[in-house]
Amino acid sequence: MKPLVSEAIETYCREHSARPSALLQELEAYTIAHCAQPQMITGALEGAMLGLLIKLTGARRILEVGMFTGYSALTMAEALPEDGMILSCDVNPDTTAIAQSFFRRSPHGRKIEVRLGPALDTLAALEAGREFDLAFIDADKENYIGYYEAALARLRSGGLVVADNVLWSGAVLNPKHESDRAIVAFNDHMQRDGRVEHVMLTIRDGITLARKR
Ligand SMILES: C[S@@+](CC[C@H](N)C(=O)[O-])C[C@H]1O[C@@H](n2cnc3c(N)ncnc32)[C@H](O)[C@@H]1O
Repeated sequence: MKPLVSEAIETYCREHSARPSALLQELEAYTIAHCAQPQMITGALEGAMLGLLIKLTGARRILEVGMFTGYSALTMAEALPEDGMILSCDVNPDTTAIAQSFFRRSPHGRKIEVRLGPALDTLAALEAGREFDLAFIDADKENYIGYYEAALARLRSGGLVVADNVLWSGAVLNPKHESDRAIVAFNDHMQRDGRVEHVMLTIRDGITLARKR
């Protein structure tokens, strides 16, 4: 992921936003040192935004699609009230094991319920009546429309979808690869969707916020 603004501006924004906890800083450093594609991590700036969104909306029940080593899940868990919970989906057992080792070290880790497996299968198998206040979509781009539809069906009225990487390092303007075209299709899908009010933000790699009517 390449930030859309210069590295200097990105760093300045991060340094003038809420600071991550010591454990989140350790998790980020561990991910960079030990994992392939560490740039997938949400990081401090987007983490600060997610935490603020949770507090502003009063969200208590969160769905996450794409956990990786758990940075965004742990950030959101720290922002949730004591009775809050996150259902977090990922398909990679190795990065999931890293995430869980960090969750165990946090007093907020018990708020995170991990589901290992393709997220579309996990979402299709969810208990009837299970609802969420906020859904964070940050997994494989080819399935974004599927994740969005499944999440929206489970979101309460007034709930929020947060979709990451919607500008895909700018590739949306000149799509060449399958993932580029998938993000373009997702953005067009949302733009036509009268069920939500939404805004696309140029924070990091592009984030769309959509409130279910
Ligand atoms: C961008 S990373 C998520 C980053 C994470 N939110 C964070 O803050 O570090 C995308 C994740 O989606 C996962 N993923 C890819 N395909 C998936 C699928 N079909 N179902 C569930 N997760 C999937 C990958 O294993 C990867 O961990």
